[in-house]
Amino acid sequence: MHELRVAPSILSADFARLADEVADVAPAVSMVHVDVMDAHYVPNLTLGPPVVRSLRAATPLFLDAHLMITDPRTYAPQVVAAGADSVTFHPEVEDDPLGLVELLRDVGSQVGVAVRPHQPLSLVEELLESIDLLLVMTVQPGFGGQAFQPEVLPKIAEAVAARERLGARFRIEVDGGISPDTVGGTAAAGADTFVAGSAVFDHLDRPAAARAVLAAAEA
Ligand code: DX5
Ligand code: ZN
Repeated sequence: MHELRVAPSILSADFARLADEVADVAPAVSMVHVDVMDAHYVPNLTLGPPVVRSLRAATPLFLDAHLMITDPRTYAPQVVAAGADSVTFHPEVEDDPLGLVELLRDVGSQVGVAVRPHQPLSLVEELLESIDLLLVMTVQPGFGGQAFQPEVLPKIAEAVAARERLGARFRIEVDGGISPDTVGGTAAAGADTFVAGSAVFDHLDRPAAARAVLAAAEA
């Protein structure tokens, strides 16, 4: 249904050289994944709207923001205003997730919702017809470089079935432990958007590393 895409996660890049790091991988990709963490939703702290604004000025690539924060209602609109093209939040922290999806669409953003490895798809059932992206976490959110959790694969297939049943159009993104070794199973299950942090930025030739993830997904 959707063209396969790799989204390098800048969590594994050199934060003092972000513009150069993004420019380095740009020849091989059309989007970049930006992990926003608040040290409350997850035990890690990364970046916020000012850095998104600087990234926006530095690259024309699609900016895919992943908010691992407890107050997306306050900060998601700020991330959109800073220039993100898509913003994904974890819905269990929000009293009215559908209202937040609609609010973000109204300000011109694409919108995603995320499910953690142990969370069932039923958590986001009522949102599936309204979103652009379903982010299926394949590790617990918070840190790069963790091991892929294959037990999540059936949930991807379940999301594909739900999308068909509802006549919905959302992309299915996987995030966590994605590499040429693990991506194939997610693509076979129906994922189309592959976040890869360490599998891209831990290599000297980032375009080659990103292309290797895509090639393994397409195989
Ligand atoms: C983890 C983040 C991921 C992270 C993935 O909570 O959401 O986007 O950067 O890193 P890798 O690809 O190294 O597992
Ligand atoms: Zn992420």
